[in-house]
This record gives sequence, C-alpha cells and structure tokens, in this order.
Amino acid sequence: MSLDIESIRADFPILSRKVAGGKDLVYLDNAATTQKPQVVIDAMTRYYEQSNANVHRAVHTLAAEATEQYEAARDTLASWFGTTRDNLIFTSGTTEAINLVAWGWARSNLGAGDAVVITEMEHHADIVPWQLLAEEKGIEIRVVPIDTDQDTLDMEIFSASLSGAKLVCVVHTSNVLGVANPVADIISQSHAAGAKVLIDAAQAAPHERIDFEGMGADFVAISGHKMCGPTGIGCLLATTGCIEEMEPFMSGGDMIETVTMEKSTFASGPQKFEAGTPKIAEAIGFAAAADYLSKLDMEAVHRHIRGLATYTANELKSVHGITVYGDHSVADGSGVVSFLHDTIHAEDLARFMDAGGFAMRTGHHCAQPLLDAYGVTSTNRVSFYLYNTQQEASAFVEHLRYIVDKFGG
Ligand SMILES: Cc1ncc(COP(=O)(O)O)c(C=O)c1O
Repeated sequence: MSLDIESIRADFPILSRKVAGGKDLVYLDNAATTQKPQVVIDAMTRYYEQSNANVHRAVHTLAAEATEQYEAARDTLASWFGTTRDNLIFTSGTTEAINLVAWGWARSNLGAGDAVVITEMEHHADIVPWQLLAEEKGIEIRVVPIDTDQDTLDMEIFSASLSGAKLVCVVHTSNVLGVANPVADIISQSHAAGAKVLIDAAQAAPHERIDFEGMGADFVAISGHKMCGPTGIGCLLATTGCIEEMEPFMSGGDMIETVTMEKSTFASGPQKFEAGTPKIAEAIGFAAAADYLSKLDMEAVHRHIRGLATYTANELKSVHGITVYGDHSVADGSGVVSFLHDTIHAEDLARFMDAGGFAMRTGHHCAQPLLDAYGVTSTNRVSFYLYNTQQEASAFVEHLRYIVDKFGG
C-alpha cells in the first residue's frame, strides 16, 4: 500500500496555515513534536464536550464514560504496541517513562557498585536520571561511545561493557543522527549477560511498529506527541516481572489499595504508578493517534520519511560549507537530517529559513554528549514525517542553497 500524501495532509488542519508574511508552512521539526490530525483534536474535544469527569471514582454517567474511554485508550495503545493493558503505564512522555524506570525500578533493585550501561547517543532524558541515581545510590555508569566515522555505537565496547551490568539503557533511534541502533542484538547480548534493557523509542515509535513482546525488551519508553498524539502523554511498556519489582515513584490518590494513618498498601499493575487524576483527555487523544496511524501502512510511512531524509542529506552534502551528520545511506533510521554550515551560525540559518516558511530545529537537541563527540555545540536539524512531501524537501534544499549563496561567504 502506498501513501496518499495529499489526503494525509488534508487530515492536519495546521498544515494549511500561512507563516512568515503569507508563505506556506513547511513544517520540518517533527522530531521535536509532530502535528495533530483532526481526529485526535476531535477525540479530545468530544471527551471534554460530552464525557468530562474524573476516572476510577464516581458511579455517575459521566464518570463511567470517562473511565471507560480512558481504559479503552490503554487497550488500544497496548494492542498498537504489541502488549496487553497490564503492561502499559501512562506517563507524561518518554522523559517520565525513563524516570519511572530509574526511580521506580532501579532505585529499589540496584545498589552500590551495580553497573548501568548507557550510550553517548542518548537524549538527556536517558542520561540525567542515571546520574542522579548514581549520586544517590553509588551505582556505576558505563558509557558506550559513538564511532563518529561510522555514526554508530561502538559495539565492541558495548559488548565489553556488559560484564556484570544490571541494566542497559539505549536509544532506539537517535534524535540527532537519525541512526537506528541494532536493538535486537543489544537486547539479546544484554539478556545473555543478565542485564535488563530499557529502550528509548521516542524517535522510533512514530514511524515503526513497536512490538513490545516481540522485541523482548524489559522496558520501552514512548512519547505520544511525536506520533500525532497530544503533548503531556506517553507510556512506559514494562514486562509483568519488572512491574512486580517496581516501587511507587509518585504516590497519592488512585494508586493505593488501602490507606490508614499508619501505612498504605498499593494497587497492583499500572495503576500503582498512575497517582492522582490522570491525563484523561490526553490518553484518549493518544489512542486516537494510534487509531489514525493504524489505518496507514507503517512500512510505507517509514520508507517515505527515510526517502525524504536520504534525498535531503545527499543534496545538502553538495551545498558549499555544509557538513551532514549521520549515515542516510541505510534503510534503517528516521526522517532526521542534522547539518551545520561552516560560517553561517545555526541559529541565523534557522531564522533565514523561518522567514521562508521552513520550520526547522536548532541547538544541541538535548544530546550534548553526542554533539561533543562530533566536536560541535549545535546543529540545524530537519525531520520529516508522514505529511511532508518531496516538493517540500526540494523547496527546502533550494531555499537553503539561496541563503548559503547569499550569506555563506
Ligand atoms: C530520543 C529521545 N528521547 C527522549 C526524548 C524526550 O521526550 P519527551 O520530551 O517527550 O519526554 C526525546 C525528545 O525529543 C527524544 O528525541
């Protein structure tokens, strides 16, 4: 099945707005957050207009509807991610999902001297929680470096770092390079060494089916807003064994079984980790996003965004003064292209492009160690998604050539 991009574009109202004094919006910042189709906006609006109430509490009609819709969202998402409702904990996104592993699982299952393996390719969300935990618990952090000639993790060092490791935390697909890591190999080597595995799938879930049970990881972290869903919602997928080993991270209402003034007992399963009024409309919107994606051929989505990224990377390489980061010659990977001009500051370039209607990202992309490895402090980044067209990619390259010719010296 191929993608009908024009009909997909018609599903996203924001794509028809004008920017920069009447120019067509060319939205190329999808790795930061994607736009939302009307069905997601409608699902959330419908909930607020028709069924808004708190969940898991009252018996009135609206409360029953809200609870049913919230829990149905869990079913939809669990099925989309290849697991069951008992293995999906709603979080605010990937960041909270990783923190939940750090504070809910690792804090009570790891001790002084236990090693956690992370990589130089991680987003800060998969670095900082481990550093905080290391300070508190005295765990050892082992860092797998990136081979900047190949734009891949150094898998020899990875293998060597596994001895005695208790947890391995790896980004599935880099938000800076667009490179996909050999996740199956990472999981099997880690398990053989007796370590649990956390996969940060923030940049993979938008264009690849995440089959949690097939993948075999112990934990997978996902953000809804990077895959057509609303902000403020994501999930942690975790095996039943890991969920049973986890202690509460946040506590309060909705996560308890009983409370006396002396002590409390906790709910079991995901509810134990969803304290307080949950993100009800957001969960409903996230499920509507999964429903939306489920009507598309995700392999075609992957090929489409990868094709646009490869085209753009190849074109940019021929622009005088531009360095492109990441290997776009392989079929695996995402729609991300990071690059830098040798004299035009990344921020200036992004502003010039914005004035032409092109939205792209600038900065360290919350991956400072990765940028350090390449000896840069920021890059420009475009990231394609299912509604971007070949014309947009071509127009982007053309406008960038024009800016570089004018200001590139
Ligand atoms: C690879 C990766 N991990 C984690 C995150 C954090 O996601 P969120 O801000 O949705 O929690 C991002 C966001 O850009 C990301 O790209």
